[in-house]
Amino acid sequence: MGKDTLSVTDNRTGQTFEIPISDGTIHATDLRQMRTDPEDFGLMSYDPGFMNTASCRSTVTFIDGDRGILEYRGYPIEQLAEKSNFLEVAYLLVHGELPSKQEYDDWSYQITHHTFVHENIKKFMEGFRHDAHPMGMLLGTVGALSTFYPDAKLIHDPRSRQIQTHRLIAKMPTLAAFCYRHSMGLPYVYPDNDLSYTGNFLSMMYKMSEPKFTPNPTLERALDILFILHADHEQNASANAVRAVGSTEVDPYSAISAGIAALYGPLHGGANEAVLRMLREIGSINRIPEFIKGVKSGERKLMGFGHRVYKNYDPRARFIKQAADEVFEVTGVNPLLKIALELERIALEDDYFIKRRLYPNVDFYSGLIYEAMQVPVDVFTVLFAIARTAGWMAQWLEMVEDPEQKIARPRQVYVGSPRREYVPIADRGATPVPAGAPA
Ligand code: CMC
Repeated sequence: MGKDTLSVTDNRTGQTFEIPISDGTIHATDLRQMRTDPEDFGLMSYDPGFMNTASCRSTVTFIDGDRGILEYRGYPIEQLAEKSNFLEVAYLLVHGELPSKQEYDDWSYQITHHTFVHENIKKFMEGFRHDAHPMGMLLGTVGALSTFYPDAKLIHDPRSRQIQTHRLIAKMPTLAAFCYRHSMGLPYVYPDNDLSYTGNFLSMMYKMSEPKFTPNPTLERALDILFILHADHEQNASANAVRAVGSTEVDPYSAISAGIAALYGPLHGGANEAVLRMLREIGSINRIPEFIKGVKSGERKLMGFGHRVYKNYDPRARFIKQAADEVFEVTGVNPLLKIALELERIALEDDYFIKRRLYPNVDFYSGLIYEAMQVPVDVFTVLFAIARTAGWMAQWLEMVEDPEQKIARPRQVYVGSPRREYVPIADRGATPVPAGAPA
């Protein structure tokens, strides 16, 4: 049996070092002892995009990207999606264990009774233009919540952390629905605390003049499954943003709004919106080969395909495909489904995608379900944000309590100008005119 160490010879100096290995990693700061002279800062690792750098130890979510495995706190995603519900999964992520009956009832009560938002939030939202993107509205509004709850600054107080967790998970559907109603020019609908988490969300989205909204149970359950599948995904870009911003010891509303900002991007959660726009643009099956040609020549990406960690089928995508069938039985089949299925079939047989191990990810089919539920395209990522709040909070709570965590502050490799002297503006000469510029 070998030793759990790494022996490295620095060929610049001829010195050999023995570096401890724990949990399959070396500590990057152990490289610093490798210096060319006493003035040298020491060796660093260079890893843009964290391709091979673990930024924390975590007990929340496990992914085996090669085998297509996803587990929350050790429970396989398939079992949770089949047998659990989103609120129970949120409890599991936040607390680390499945709740007892009493714990579940108490958790549901807490979440249900924190769904209302301060009336001034409505006034705040009125400041947005009628066509403001709902994700932009959501990230601004969640950031603004920190001003309503100054006690959230007490991040080292476990009671404060607990209440902010309840508030954030409870209020996110309310804020999300308000963003949607604002963009439609519709009056806001207050939470209905008799309904389930997803039933209440559907009520706040779609209730009109009826005294009580009754959600369709199939759609309510389908949304619950989608929320479970989106609840966490270990150190993805938005969880990393929450942890990085949270590492400054700012309040959790500000940290979560950073997560929402990261999720908004089309390479992350914004991909569900981008997929739908792409499918609409392709428009018909016979235009797929031309589209794929454009992807292969690097003109564009096949949105909803590929993943940093999964190099096999994303297990969430497989489940979403099944959920889609149940939703379409109620809503009718989304006509874009045919294009999506054919696109997937062609891509999975093509060498370009096979070689790069590109498979459909969670966002490839989720938009088709949302659209069938009459959710406008620019609200798709907002739904992702509701679900992911449970994961962000679990990651944030873990980070706050982790004695190994420090302010997230990477190093850089400076490749800019060497030191030079300031030149007054009058002595700098004329700006060169670019070639081809109009005279
Ligand atoms: N379409 C075409 N080519 C792709 C795609 C794609 N969707 N994704 C990756 N590639 C190619 C990429 O061009 C590169 O090719 P080459 O080796 O010739 O340069 C190779 O595959 C490796 O890709 P990469 O960009 O180095 O991989 P990454 O791990 O840095 O990026 C990703 C992962 C998800 C950002 C990327 O696959 C992507 O942009 N996908 C489309 C956007 C998308 O669907 N995002 C949702 C991700 S899942 C939900 C979530 O967690 O938010």
